Amino acid sequence: MNRKKPAIISPSLLSSDFSRLAEELAALEQAGVKWVHWDVMDGAFVPNITFGPPVIKACRQNSELFFDVHLMIEQPDRYLADFVDAGADLLCVHVEACLHLERTISEIVRLGAKPAVSLNPHTPLHVLEYILPQVHMVLIMSVNPGFGGQKFIPFSTRKVRELRDMMEQQGVDAHIQVDGGVTPANIRELADCGADVFVSGSAFFGFPPYAQRLKTFLDAVK
Ligand code: DX5
Ligand code: ZN
Repeated sequence: MNRKKPAIISPSLLSSDFSRLAEELAALEQAGVKWVHWDVMDGAFVPNITFGPPVIKACRQNSELFFDVHLMIEQPDRYLADFVDAGADLLCVHVEACLHLERTISEIVRLGAKPAVSLNPHTPLHVLEYILPQVHMVLIMSVNPGFGGQKFIPFSTRKVRELRDMMEQQGVDAHIQVDGGVTPANIRELADCGADVFVSGSAFFGFPPYAQRLKTFLDAVK
């Protein structure tokens, strides 16, 4: 059975030039990128602090990209409405940060965004068993969140394969996103295992021009 979906590359702005965010977004769009990954960090769930709704809202004014917003924050329920108001198309919360995950997912849907859940590397897949039919995407973290430029954790590949199997068993056709240490060298194996959305920060922004880099990633999955 051919279970591969068309690959989507979602460059992580964490590795972009923060002093030129609007230009970076325009350059991505110009290069043919469709999704862009916003790493929101609160200094509590992860050690770093990045940006929040006001920055996303300002950038939304001049961008048609699909805003894929990865919330690495404690108690994300406090800010869901603010992020949707800012222009997030998809909100991805961490299961480790949600005490009442079903409520959080339902609230994201009610607000009009696509709901997604993320798992830290050590978090087992079974936490998703009952919630899987309600999510648009599952994000498998392939590094411990908090920093760009880390090394891919090898067991993530098996985790992706087992998640795709779990989805098929349930008749669920959601996206599987992989985030952390993704490069043109490992994207193919991840796609073969059932991932279809690939986040890349350092391995994308470090290699301009972006149109060429996007092609390198996509050619590697073909
Ligand atoms: C890590 C972030 C990632 C990160 C990926 O906490 O969630 O999105 O930016 O960066 P690279 O591709 O450099 O590992
Ligand atoms: Zn991320």
